[in-house]
Amino acid sequence: MPNITHAALIGVVAAVGATAWKDQCEGFKAHLPNIAIKPTYYPAGSLVNLTSPSSSVNTNKLPAFCRLALTITTNVTSGNQALTEVWMPDGWNNRLLGFGNGGLSGGVVYSSLSYDGVQQGYSSFSTNTGHQSSPINGSWALNDVNAQLDFGFRAFQLSYQAAKTLTEQYYGKPIGKKYYLGCSTAGRMGLVEAQRYPEDFDGIVVGSPANPIARLAAWNIYQGRQVLPVNGTRWIPAAMWPVIHKEVMKQCDGIDGVMDDVIDDPRQCNFRPEAIACGPSSDRTTCLTLGQISALRALYTDWHSNNGTFLFSRFEPGGELAYATSYVSGPNIALGPEYWKNVVFSDPNWDYNTLTVDDVFRAIERNPGQIDNHSFNYTSYFARGGKLLHYAGLADQTISSGNSYYLYNSVSAFTKENTNLDPYDYYRFFPVPGMYHCNGGTGASALGGNNQRSGGMPPLSVDPAHDILAAMVDWVENGNAPTQLIAAKYNNNNVTQGVQFTRKLCPYPQKGVYQGGDQNSSDSFICA
Ligand SMILES: *[C@@H]1O[C@H](CO)[C@@H](O)[C@H](O)[C@H]1NC(C)=O
Ligand SMILES: *[C@@H]1O[C@H](CO)[C@@H](O)[C@H](O)[C@H]1NC(C)=O
Ligand SMILES: *[C@@H]1O[C@H](CO)[C@@H](O)[C@H](O)[C@H]1NC(C)=O
Ligand SMILES: *[C@@H]1O[C@H](CO)[C@@H](O)[C@H](O)[C@H]1NC(C)=O
Ligand SMILES: *[C@@H]1O[C@H](CO)[C@@H](O)[C@H](O)[C@H]1NC(C)=O
Ligand SMILES: *[C@@H]1O[C@H](CO)[C@@H](O)[C@H](O)[C@H]1NC(C)=O
Ligand SMILES: *[C@@H]1O[C@H](CO)[C@@H](O)[C@H](O)[C@H]1NC(C)=O
Ligand SMILES: *[C@@H]1O[C@H](CO)[C@@H](O)[C@H](O)[C@H]1NC(C)=O
Ligand SMILES: *[C@@H]1O[C@H](CO)[C@@H](O)[C@H](O)[C@H]1NC(C)=O
Repeated sequence: MPNITHAALIGVVAAVGATAWKDQCEGFKAHLPNIAIKPTYYPAGSLVNLTSPSSSVNTNKLPAFCRLALTITTNVTSGNQALTEVWMPDGWNNRLLGFGNGGLSGGVVYSSLSYDGVQQGYSSFSTNTGHQSSPINGSWALNDVNAQLDFGFRAFQLSYQAAKTLTEQYYGKPIGKKYYLGCSTAGRMGLVEAQRYPEDFDGIVVGSPANPIARLAAWNIYQGRQVLPVNGTRWIPAAMWPVIHKEVMKQCDGIDGVMDDVIDDPRQCNFRPEAIACGPSSDRTTCLTLGQISALRALYTDWHSNNGTFLFSRFEPGGELAYATSYVSGPNIALGPEYWKNVVFSDPNWDYNTLTVDDVFRAIERNPGQIDNHSFNYTSYFARGGKLLHYAGLADQTISSGNSYYLYNSVSAFTKENTNLDPYDYYRFFPVPGMYHCNGGTGASALGGNNQRSGGMPPLSVDPAHDILAAMVDWVENGNAPTQLIAAKYNNNNVTQGVQFTRKLCPYPQKGVYQGGDQNSSDSFICA
């Protein structure tokens, strides 16, 4: 088992020159139009205690860095503003790294800047995308086209421009290569960047992208309507989901040859809920009623329009313990309506029960705020040598992973049809069996993904074999395309409690295939 070396990077930068960096930071002045800048220097090991609506950090384990807090006026006429931060470590690795956000949130993502950013040596930036708000509140978008445009791409693009200029000015030399790392809405932001501004980044890593939000937000409502109202005939109480999970595993865990509470390829699992249908005298806490069976059949079926257009993928079998809360207290049934009310219909009283498939097609056509890019055209990004890595948890409760397969297959097909490029030379997709939304779950999912470190799930080692961002750097800078990644499952998804097992993650269409031997070791699996 490889050693956990992520912690060893802390404090690599010695105090040599610390005073000079402090002076450089505190006296830093730059004159960029429509941007106010406030610098603060944090010596190595000092307390960094910061909170935004979407993230907080409270640690004294970061290396020395200069923090620039920017206020960017994104439209001089309307006065819309974005809060952006650029964090530049004394021990700079000569690279720039951008991060995105989650849900509908507005807030600088401090956890990313800290653990995925300066702790790894990157000059890093994150923006609130033009508004401060929780991830499941969209009221900021109501009748504010500028706020929508900022959320779609503009605030991030202006932040990128500022971060690039400020980083080069601060260090007095050009940036080497530029990277992006993000999951969920941040995944959508990375994809939109690749399409609109193909020159910006050399390597973009996206997890479970919330892309496009129009189809996703409709799916949130569609799935919710299968089971709501609470306590209705189709309602599945939280306590039933573990029962369903057990039955799913009984039917499908063994398909991949390893009984580990993880379904390696959920697309091979045709879950039959009727296997635990209630009889006349069944215990109602361990069986399913006809209404529940009907709801589950819909939840576990891809969603298409009547003319056969793919709208969104199903709940994949395996994520049941996470599905338990998705439509009760979880974000899904909040996020979907917030988008439709505020961005599409401009009506805070809009009733999600009225959503139709025609509404979805109209929203796709109109693309309010240009938040989405519905095309599969990434050819400009690939043609200039840009690399795209994509990962997705196969037990994702928030953005079903079937949507990631759909994106990958569609982009690959588009690229093959319209160019001479082999998409596999530019774009690889790593499905992550058993992972929930962006992290956690029952599978080996610690792979260096965005915000996994801050969640107590760092990669086993910061190198191209274990860390997807390091793998991207190796691809961009050394031409070594990733052929596998070794991911860890920690006990209770908590690194301090030790490694439970490791697995190989493989670029689709390959999968990790068990070869016999120790089931806890990735050495017993090959990508094939
Ligand atoms: C961190 O900041 C919060 C306010 O944002 C404060 O309540 C808390 O005491 C601070 N923690 C430490 C360790 O200073
Ligand atoms: C800036 O905002 C004004 C006022 O809302 C609007 O008319 C204009 O189109 C916006 N400009 C851009 C580039 O979005
Ligand atoms: C969303 O935020 C607005 C403005 O801060 C607030 O008035 C509203 O109550 C929030 N809505 C929800 C559902 O939390
Ligand atoms: C979508 O992507 C295409 C192809 O890269 C690009 O030409 C277009 O400007 C993008 N449109 C939007 C709305 O992002
Ligand atoms: C649903 O039923 C449970 C259990 O009987 C009860 O505690 C809860 O209040 C009910 N919720 C609603 C919204 O009816
Ligand atoms: C289905 O209908 C929608 C909306 O009219 C249209 O955009 C789409 O292209 C149609 N798909 C097919 C396969 O005909
Ligand atoms: C893809 O988008 C680029 C702009 O980003 C455009 O130049 C090109 O024509 C598009 N390709 C196709 C086949 O539409
Ligand atoms: C991780 O486990 C340790 C004990 O090993 C515990 O102190 C810590 O609170 C746990 N972290 C989380 C996020 O649960
Ligand atoms: C795998 O790890 C589990 C604990 O997580 C342990 O119970 C089991 O014996 C291990 N199997 C092997 C073959 O080492």
